[in-house]
Amino acid sequence: MAQTLHLTPKLSLEELQALDQKHHIHPFTAASALRSAPPFLIDSAEGAYISGQGIKLLDMMAGLGCVNVGYGRPELAEAAAEAMNKLSYYHSFSAVSNPPAAELAGRLADLAPDGMNKVFFANSGSEANETALKLINFYWRKKGQPNKRIIITRDYAYHGTTIATTALNGNAAMLEPFGIDPGHTVERAMSPFWYRHGGDLTPEAFGKKAAKSIEDKILAAGAKNVAAVFLEPVQGTMGAVVPPAGYLAEVERICRAHDVLIVADEVVTGLGRTGHWFAQETFGFTADIMTLAKGLSSAYLPISAMMVHDSIVEVVEGDETIFQHGFTTSAHPVTAAVALKNLDILQEEGLVDKIRNDLGPYFLAKLKTLEASPLVGEVRASGLFAGIELCKVKETREQYPLEMGLCDHVGNAAMMRGLIVRPCGNVLVLCPPFIVSHAQIDFTVEVLADALAEIYTAIQAG
Ligand SMILES: Cc1ncc(COP(=O)(O)O)c(C=O)c1O
Repeated sequence: MAQTLHLTPKLSLEELQALDQKHHIHPFTAASALRSAPPFLIDSAEGAYISGQGIKLLDMMAGLGCVNVGYGRPELAEAAAEAMNKLSYYHSFSAVSNPPAAELAGRLADLAPDGMNKVFFANSGSEANETALKLINFYWRKKGQPNKRIIITRDYAYHGTTIATTALNGNAAMLEPFGIDPGHTVERAMSPFWYRHGGDLTPEAFGKKAAKSIEDKILAAGAKNVAAVFLEPVQGTMGAVVPPAGYLAEVERICRAHDVLIVADEVVTGLGRTGHWFAQETFGFTADIMTLAKGLSSAYLPISAMMVHDSIVEVVEGDETIFQHGFTTSAHPVTAAVALKNLDILQEEGLVDKIRNDLGPYFLAKLKTLEASPLVGEVRASGLFAGIELCKVKETREQYPLEMGLCDHVGNAAMMRGLIVRPCGNVLVLCPPFIVSHAQIDFTVEVLADALAEIYTAIQAG
């Protein structure tokens, strides 16, 4: 049962909002938004619902695509309390470890694709990706190929917010304000975003073209200078871009042909979201390195991981050189214990199989009915990861200008009806918790149909 938290009972709602407005810097938030309206304080959550200020909302985003086993699970709180009472902290530098971290490393190696047997722990997706970037340089230097420094990413990529991971991102708005210039170390290839860029090509033909754009970048830079292709199997934050069949296998073939590493950023897709434990299984490819975060603990506590294939480990652990990298809270015993319990829940409740065999197909079929709306160009999904692409003209796939905020309007209209989805540019993204029910999916589709109709009527009325 979820607990209602009243950690600061002496403060009224208005006092808390005022403190937050005055003192709290929010991620990805325009300061003007907080000046014009007080923050919405969420103070409890259970199952697929969040609550605050007397309002209860169905959260079809599972927070930020992370609360995969749902909110308010007492067994996770108990696992945290038990671990914290036993060993509240010890570091994992040098040759020290702790029981939950050791067990978690073994469990992840069992679950991961063949050959991925070693894991490094961090606290966020950005840190796991940053770690992968450092490991890639470490690896090529040890192999005597220090010129292999270029990383290829793709348009619409999102890999995090540290300086190095920001440089990988495909959205210029995230780079320019900080003066981050990817310079000569990051090359950006096409995204396999068929709906927006596929034109008259079939998805499969477009997938080949998008994969070839990666090969073209490798050839233009010279394979001897290219270290890795870094990719999200399903591009998430910029619109749930599900790749065409065969695309990722073709990218892997290209990487192998040119001796370039392939990194799967499975921060969102990892641990079940696409209906297999890893999107590598869903889309038929194998990475050399993969990163995990969100679903690893269902965000009950911050933990992330970088998993590495034996072929890389052989090189980087081949001599006495120290991997000069790590975080104070890497392999934290409490977060590791929570992640272990989270894996227990996923396995004991068969949640990943349920997504593949039942929830995923049901979700896609129901959402597809929204394509009847004049505002919906395409509905796409992989497992419980969906994008609803809005459009102005279906036939030409023309979009409304982003400044119109169409997606925000639809998102707000849905919220007024009790539903959270995530507006991302011109795409509504949905990433529900794995415990979502058919009835909750039905409710979602009804609410979105109404919200789309309301906004379409408003557009028609000018
Ligand atoms: C694919 C992907 N990679 C990396 C990140 C960064 O993770 P974090 O916010 O935990 O640093 C995200 C966050 O949304 C993500 O979606």
